[in-house]
Amino acid sequence: MTAGSTAASRATEDGRGSVAIRGLTKSFGATPVLRGVDLDIPDGSFLTVLGPSGCGKSTLMRIVAGLEQQDGGSVAIGGRPVDGLRPDQRDIAMVFQSYALYPHLTVFDNIALPLRMRRLDFARRLPIVGRMLPGVGQTEREIAQAVRRVAETLQIEPLLARKPGQLSGGQKQRVAVGRAMVREPRVFLMDEPLSNLDAELRVHMRAEIAQLHRSLRTTFIYVTHDQAEAMTMSDQVVVMMDGRPLQVAPPSVIYEDPEDIRVARFVGSPRINILPGTATGRGSVDVLGVEVPFAGHVSPGTGVQVGFRPAAATVTRASGTPGLAGTLTYRENLGSDLFLHVALAGADAPVVIRHDPAEIASFPVGEPVTMRIGEVQTLIFDQAGKRLRAPLAAAGMRRHG
Ligand SMILES: Nc1ncnc2c1ncn2[C@@H]1O[C@H](COP(=O)(O)OP(=O)(O)OP(=O)(O)O)[C@@H](O)[C@H]1O
Ligand SMILES: [Mg+2]
Repeated sequence: MTAGSTAASRATEDGRGSVAIRGLTKSFGATPVLRGVDLDIPDGSFLTVLGPSGCGKSTLMRIVAGLEQQDGGSVAIGGRPVDGLRPDQRDIAMVFQSYALYPHLTVFDNIALPLRMRRLDFARRLPIVGRMLPGVGQTEREIAQAVRRVAETLQIEPLLARKPGQLSGGQKQRVAVGRAMVREPRVFLMDEPLSNLDAELRVHMRAEIAQLHRSLRTTFIYVTHDQAEAMTMSDQVVVMMDGRPLQVAPPSVIYEDPEDIRVARFVGSPRINILPGTATGRGSVDVLGVEVPFAGHVSPGTGVQVGFRPAAATVTRASGTPGLAGTLTYRENLGSDLFLHVALAGADAPVVIRHDPAEIASFPVGEPVTMRIGEVQTLIFDQAGKRLRAPLAAAGMRRHG
C-alpha cells in the first residue's frame, strides 16, 4: 500500500491527532469498569490497548469515540476537550470487529457513505431527486475521487462494484478500514478489527495495518487481546487489567522489563514461570534451596516471587550438578522450539523451559533433570506483584527509560 491520501498531510506535527485521557471512570450499574484511566497518546503514534476479555478496552474506545458517556474524567483530542461533543464532531473514525458494512450497498457506496453524510443534506442524498439539485454533481465527483484514492491505497479497486456478501473476510475488513480512512480522521480507533479472520489472514492484515499506519502517520489506537498483534504493530502498548492501565511502554519493554507480575504473566507464550523465593540478605534470593543473584534491597527473610521466561533457563540431563532438581513431565515439540515441562521438587506447578528441538532424543519423559536459571534474566516481584529492581550497576542488566 502507498500513501495515496491527504490524511498524511492532515496529521502533522501540530499535535492535532494527540489524545490525552485523564482520570477516566465508568461504571455499569454497581460494577466499575474503568477505575481511573490516564493515557497520553502522541500525534501519529500507534498505541495498542492489550488486556483480557472484560477489562474495559471497548468501553474505553467507545468513550473516546463519544459513543458512551464517562462518569468522570476527560478526553482531549489535539489539545481540545471533546467530552461535550457528539461522535461525528470528534474527527475520529472507528473500525469494529464486526465490520458493520451495509449489505445492500456496494463497496463503493459503503466507503462513500461517510462523505455523503457529511457533505450532502438529506434531499441531496436521495438517489434520483438528489442528483437534480444544484452542486450535487461536483460534490459527487469529489467523493468518487476520494473513494478511488482510498481504494487504491487498500488495493480494493476491483471490488468497488461488489456487495459485502460477495467479499472474503479480509476484503470486508479492508472495506471497513477504507470507510474509516475516507473521512481523513485525526484518530483511528480499531477495536479487534482482525478477530473474525483466520490465523493466516490475521498475520497478513496485521502487516497491512502497520504499513497503513506508517504511510498515513495518523494516530492509531488499536484494541486487542492478542499479544502477538500488540507486540508486532505498536509503538506503545498499554496493558490494561480490571479497568486500569498497568504499564504503558514499547512492546520490548513490556516483555523484557514488566513493572507488574500481571503484565509479565499476560505477555509471552508460553507464560513466564514464577517460583516462590526468599531474600537472603547477601545479594541473592533463595529459590527452592538454590541461590539466584539479586542485588535489590530486600530485607532478609522477605518472601518474593521469582519470574523467568522459558528461554531464560536451561535444562540438562546431568544430575548432581548445581541447579534445581526435577523430573521431565512433558515435551511440547513445535518444530522450531521444544518446550520441556519440568516438575521441580518443592514447586506447585511444572515450569516450562525452551530447548533446542535437535536434542529431543536426550530428554525422555519421566527422567530426572537439572534446571539452571539464567542469572541476569530473572524478574523479581514482591508478594503483591510489584517489580523489585536491583540498582543498575549491580544488576548488570539492560534497563529501559
Ligand atoms: N452497556 C453495558 N451494560 C452493562 N455492562 C456492560 C456494558 N458494556 C460493557 N459492560 C461490561 O463492562 C465490562 C467491560 O466490557 P468491555 O466491553 O469494555 O470489555 P473488553 O475489554 O472490550 O472485553 P473483550 O475483550 O471481551 O471485548 C464487562 O464486564 C462488560 O460485561
Ligand atoms: Mg471489547
